[in-house]
Amino acid sequence: MDIKIDLSKSGLTEEDIQQEKERAGAALDKLWSGKEDFTGWVKLPLEYDKAEMERILTVSDIIRSQCSLLIVIGIGGSYLGAKAAIDALEKEPGSPEVKFAGINLSAAYHQRLLLEMQTKEVCLCVISKSGTTVETTATFNIFKKALIEKYGKEEAVQRIYAVTDKENGALRQETEEEGYTSFVIPSDIGGRYSVLTPVGLLPIAVSGVDIRQLMAGAEAMASSTDWDFHGTDYAIARYLMLQQGRAVEAIQHYEPDLKYFVEWIKQLFGESEGKDGTGLFPAGLELTADLHSMGQFLQEGSRIFFETVLNIENSSVDLEVPSGPLEGKTLNQLNQAATKGVIKAHSDAGISVIRLDIPSLTAFYYGQLIYFFETTCAVTATLMGVNPFNQPGVEAYKKEMKKEIS
Ligand code: PA5
Repeated sequence: MDIKIDLSKSGLTEEDIQQEKERAGAALDKLWSGKEDFTGWVKLPLEYDKAEMERILTVSDIIRSQCSLLIVIGIGGSYLGAKAAIDALEKEPGSPEVKFAGINLSAAYHQRLLLEMQTKEVCLCVISKSGTTVETTATFNIFKKALIEKYGKEEAVQRIYAVTDKENGALRQETEEEGYTSFVIPSDIGGRYSVLTPVGLLPIAVSGVDIRQLMAGAEAMASSTDWDFHGTDYAIARYLMLQQGRAVEAIQHYEPDLKYFVEWIKQLFGESEGKDGTGLFPAGLELTADLHSMGQFLQEGSRIFFETVLNIENSSVDLEVPSGPLEGKTLNQLNQAATKGVIKAHSDAGISVIRLDIPSLTAFYYGQLIYFFETTCAVTATLMGVNPFNQPGVEAYKKEMKKEIS
């Protein structure tokens, strides 16, 4: 496993971790048993359909040749995985821009995107497992109308791509009736675990990120034999933090390109664990910026949280300070100094800090990260005694919202 976890500043002992190893191992076995619902993502990196992968690459090449702007319409698990990877990873120069619609119900946000559509060659990619989500349905119809006005019906149909359930939902029905090129969201993979299916892979490929490397990283992580030794340590540590009364996980990063990766983790953890009155509240902090706003609270505020630091060890670019008191230092040196200094100051103040060392932000390591977080999330949720794969609370508000609309 190339991603390493450092618990030396967590306040937990090796003995604490060992006490939960058996239960964590059993949770891992359950995931791999193939008998649990919604665990299709577990073996996916090892067993994914290579022909489907080729088709994703072929279709993404077509989209890349058709447009300079791909508007992806989807929300939650049908949005965050793609957005996070596209923001974080290096893209082939000259690739289409990928922007997202249906991620809120703001008219102002969508009006700006509609205006942008007028001046660019555009394709739409609508993604919804249920095919009934309000944000997606409303905005897809708005953008579809604009696309038809721009290109005419026949060409617009050639520029609409759909990712949805194999059989169910209004979007599948429309896709079949209109003849959109489409992909299937596997029925045994829930939204927040779906980034390595066409839900994430199609937009990510269009953006110019190497999705083969992404899958290779996930495959390396899925086939790692290290899980039994320390792969579950993060999951156990998170569970123990909650047991000790630290209900908030402050997930910190020092690379702004990881902002949406943390948003993706927030959905993964929040929806998987936050039920039956339990779960850690996942919060995101972007450092060093947030040190200048939240630094005081972190250092001396109420002790309701612990910290998880995403530490990127090597960056492909660096900048040297040419003059002034920091002359000769590079930004990477300063960023590493900030990471180490903040961890020291916070742990000296009694805050539990978990550090994840990630060699660099490449598609390969990013694929590892996706699989690492999906697995540790499912293991922690199981230790907490909740089902990692349902989201009854999400369904509840959706139902009430629909009543208000009708
Ligand atoms: O993870 C989940 O299940 C949710 O966040 C869904 O992805 C989100 O509500 C969108 O649902 P759908 O893909 O059915 O439009």
